[in-house]
Amino acid sequence: MRVLVTGGAGFIGSAVVRHLVLVKGYEVLTVDKLTYAGTLTSLYKVDGHPLHRFLRADICDRSAMVEAFASFRPDRVMHLAAESHVDRSITGARDFVETNVIGTFTLLDVARNHWEGLPAVDRAAFRFLHVSTDEVYGSLGADGLFTEATAYDPSSPYSASKAASDHLAKAWQRTYGLPVVVSNCSNNYGPYHFPEKLIPLMILNALEAKPLTIYGDGANIRDWLYVEDHARALDLIAERGRPGQTYNVGGRNERRNLDVVQHICTLMDALHPQSGPHERHIAFVEDRPGHDARYAIDATRLETELGWRAEETFETGIEKTVRWYLENEWWWAPLRQGYDGRRLGLVGTGREP
Ligand code: NAD
Ligand code: TYD
Repeated sequence: MRVLVTGGAGFIGSAVVRHLVLVKGYEVLTVDKLTYAGTLTSLYKVDGHPLHRFLRADICDRSAMVEAFASFRPDRVMHLAAESHVDRSITGARDFVETNVIGTFTLLDVARNHWEGLPAVDRAAFRFLHVSTDEVYGSLGADGLFTEATAYDPSSPYSASKAASDHLAKAWQRTYGLPVVVSNCSNNYGPYHFPEKLIPLMILNALEAKPLTIYGDGANIRDWLYVEDHARALDLIAERGRPGQTYNVGGRNERRNLDVVQHICTLMDALHPQSGPHERHIAFVEDRPGHDARYAIDATRLETELGWRAEETFETGIEKTVRWYLENEWWWAPLRQGYDGRRLGLVGTGREP
């Protein structure tokens, strides 16, 4: 089995690559541009592994993608490369449109040409898994869950660009017959998460006695999934998902942001008391523009059709995550030098030209 993974030097992509190479024994070509969010240190466990190759390339670069498909001849594509941070998309959306929309278009089109040239039996087995987010569904009120039938209603430039890419992926299946499967997952957390997202940022800010910035009143709800549970789900969906179908992925772990941050503080008090007590650093700050109130996933299809279950609860996963950041300063310290956690995504400040 040969799998081409885009975005494999990122947070979720590197978990997918580790799973495919080290657990499944698949041959993997990681294709990644290495933006600020991608680092080869996230792939050190497969560095030099005979089943793993790395190609530094931009998914918008058509000729580089054609060459990658021609030389690697993948049986499967798992497409995770994206600009992924909502606050950055508010400050400047251009990279989001380029990578998430144009890049996905380029990859779909190159994959289609590759697939059309395969022998019939390989054409039938080929899969293109387009990895997306539950943020395409917009915001929930106090009740209800996102199902695969929920209408798209994205709020941020990030989620709008992901929604556009999902539509392109589905169109390439319906129009050209490319065997595309789409997954929409809730918020992930775990090791190798770039420290601009809520959970790693709060752990490192707590460690360094910096403000634990809560947007608005902290009542916004996210549905948290441990990244390795997501990686297993993606492998299963690529293996057994039906072309043309969408699968929602989520671990039924809804939490208010304030509760997440308080929980991190409690863990930090226990595991790193020298920088505590940590809750005194909680600071309520101006809300995010267009801030979705609540996300929550109904993963029944994935659970019943494909037999997937999350292995981590929020309590077990978050403790593993805090311990990992405390033990792996070598990984995050260089990234923290490049981005110190300053606030992004306020309208009227730091607008791109
Ligand atoms: P990430 O930002 O950590 O990693 C993205 C990776 O893509 C990086 O390695 C980056 O270098 C690479 N990349 C960016 N632009 C590229 C380009 N033009 N060409 C090639 N490579 C490029 O993101 P993540 O959190 O790992 O998310 C991976 C995917 O999963 C994304 O598609 C995202 O929308 C989706 N997703 C993320 C979450 C989440 O909670 N993080 C939840 C659901 C879905
Ligand atoms: P984030 O990790 O950016 O993920 P997403 O916006 O894709 O859900 O944010 C998670 C939640 O945490 C979201 O409701 C915004 C909030 N948040 C804060 O309250 N403070 C912060 O410093 C950050 C980065 C996020």
